Amino acid sequence: MPDRNPNPAAPARAAAAPRGEPMSELDRTGRQPKGHLVLRTLAMPRDTNPSGDIFGGWILAQMDVAGGLMASEISKGRTVTVSVEKMSFDKPVRVGDTICVHAELLRVGSSSMDIKLEVWARQLVDAYEAERQLVTEGVFRYVAVDENRRPRRVPDNPLFFTRD
Ligand SMILES: CC(C)(COP(=O)(O)OP(=O)(O)OC[C@H]1O[C@@H](n2cnc3c(N)ncnc32)[C@H](O)[C@@H]1OP(=O)(O)O)[C@@H](O)C(=O)NCCC(=O)NCCS
Repeated sequence: MPDRNPNPAAPARAAAAPRGEPMSELDRTGRQPKGHLVLRTLAMPRDTNPSGDIFGGWILAQMDVAGGLMASEISKGRTVTVSVEKMSFDKPVRVGDTICVHAELLRVGSSSMDIKLEVWARQLVDAYEAERQLVTEGVFRYVAVDENRRPRRVPDNPLFFTRD
């Protein structure tokens, strides 16, 4: 989907350091989650297809919930999801895995916010696996809207960004 705002009014300042899990738990690539830990949940049997694999749509939904929460916090009000950057699923998620969604604010436009979401999985049920894996990542765009669902300006929020 094309970026309809190539000249954003103000770039977002980078979010604070990641919170949540110990620094020692790196994945095999040595990469660490970036951004705030916004959502943590457990992949349950009800989230599977008939073959017993976790639905990609369930993972996307967790990402959208996490991104929407952060977008509402940043913009102090209602938001809608307007676009999702092309994504791929690089690792499977299994029943009993914990899913951590980390969110990082990349950019603030007039009414829109681009939020990078990373999903990390770790096996905690049956076989404890300390190593976590990056399952997927993507940039979701949210638009702040008013009570009539019309775009509204994202107000300044020094907790997350400052406009130049
Ligand atoms: C989001 C929505 C309110 C925007 O309405 P609009 O009339 O296109 O508004 P504008 O043209 O003024 O654009 C507003 C912002 O959205 C961005 N935008 C709009 N359509 C976009 C698209 N397809 N892709 C990326 N960004 C988009 C614009 O770049 C603009 O950003 P900016 O204010 O930071 O410059 C409208 O498209 C909408 O209601 N979409 C449905 C959202 C929804 O229901 N999501 C859940 C799906 S189940």
